Amino acid sequence: MTDVATTDYRDDYRNAGLQFPADFVFGSATASYQIEGAVNEGGRGPSIWDTFSHTPGKVHNGDTGDQADDHYHRLDADLDLMKSLNLQAYRFSISWPRIQPTGRGPANPEGIAFYTRLIDGLIERGITPIVTLYHWDLPQALEDEGGWANRATSYAFADYARIVGQAFGDRIGTWTTLNEPWCSAYLGYASGVHAPGLNDYAASLAAVHHLNLAHGLAVTALKEVVTNDPQFSITLNLHVLRPEGETGAEAVRRIDGLGNRVFLGPLLDGEYPADVIADTSEVTDWSFVHDGDLDLIKQPLDLLGVNYYSTNLVRVWDGVSPKQSADGHGEASVSPWPAASDIEFLEQPGPHTEMGWNIDPSGLEELLVSVSTAYPNLPLMITENGAAFDDQVVDGRVPDADRTDYLRRHITAAHKALSRGVDLRGYQVWSLMDNFEWAYGYSKRFGIVRVDYDTLERTPKDSALWYSELAATNRIPD
Ligand code: FCB
Repeated sequence: MTDVATTDYRDDYRNAGLQFPADFVFGSATASYQIEGAVNEGGRGPSIWDTFSHTPGKVHNGDTGDQADDHYHRLDADLDLMKSLNLQAYRFSISWPRIQPTGRGPANPEGIAFYTRLIDGLIERGITPIVTLYHWDLPQALEDEGGWANRATSYAFADYARIVGQAFGDRIGTWTTLNEPWCSAYLGYASGVHAPGLNDYAASLAAVHHLNLAHGLAVTALKEVVTNDPQFSITLNLHVLRPEGETGAEAVRRIDGLGNRVFLGPLLDGEYPADVIADTSEVTDWSFVHDGDLDLIKQPLDLLGVNYYSTNLVRVWDGVSPKQSADGHGEASVSPWPAASDIEFLEQPGPHTEMGWNIDPSGLEELLVSVSTAYPNLPLMITENGAAFDDQVVDGRVPDADRTDYLRRHITAAHKALSRGVDLRGYQVWSLMDNFEWAYGYSKRFGIVRVDYDTLERTPKDSALWYSELAATNRIPD
């Protein structure tokens, strides 16, 4: 093994030949609504994403997840595909409305049966399941009662976690409660570019708290029912912020508060940051935080999932020049940042991916080092990283050199973080295959495997072949 402490890195993050520890886990990630399809089958109830995607004007091209990658019907073939790519782990999400069609009540046996086949199929193939309980497909019936702005949703989530824990709690090694609650709260309830598509700042901050509470209650419920000794985690999309000019530091403080510390604070320190409460006092009085909630939220975590794609460059808007809002979270008439619509997100120099996101692997290294410095006893896992590009099919192959380059640079950054002492346990590439990219529909391809949406045929891209060599050897291929 290369001695990680003395490796001489190229400063462009393109090192080949770097060796990761044998127990470092390379896998891939997906989410239920983005790949499953079969939205009206197996007793599944509607989710907020069904409603949203079927609302005209909400999703690019009117695309929906009705069919998606048809993974629901192609499960065995997809499991074989993962095996053929040497994946060591597979991070997937369970669709809450497949388990509880209206978000409450007894388990739907067909939903349990589907995930039993998935989990057992992974284990049979030697692939470690990493389960996410919530990747944004809230049962519509719960949204009709206020969704994440309603405290009762947190308790419903704990009941759902208990059901799933009872079903699979003898064989899952890593449970992740929520994926990117930032997006659920702010894109769902503030800018409205995600389901349920609301523009209500007070509701978005209530949603932040109820998501944090849901996490704590779900970990508690899972601990009561699981029979093995799993890791409990949550995945956050922490924002790597760079200041611009004289007001940059103030802008970083405020966005770091709303983007990062409003989650890390209650989850890991047992308190909401005082500056965030003060900054948002015109929007809410935070009375949705009840006595005892902070104790419920701060459950010991075994692992923190980190999703990383790019960085943000911020300053306070001068009120005169045209305001830039390139925060990477979609075109919206309303800023997703409550009480911070005066913060500017500046266009950054390229290169960019097809999402318009700047490519900056140093941000990943910086993020991992800073989180691990702040929370030294908390192991980390990169639960998402990857890139959308405009892939071309050439003679039946997909020569996606730009994606391979992106992955190589970011995996090198991960290795650098390891060498700097970060307790980093693994890397899950986003995504296993092209899929429904939320408000962008099928227009953005993140997969290392191409999906032809007419035939649903899967074709591993060149990046998948490169990644499969990495996953087989834990060494960054040449
Ligand atoms: C993340 C989401 C994931 C996917 C990637 C590109 O924010 O968790 O579902 O959309 O972005």
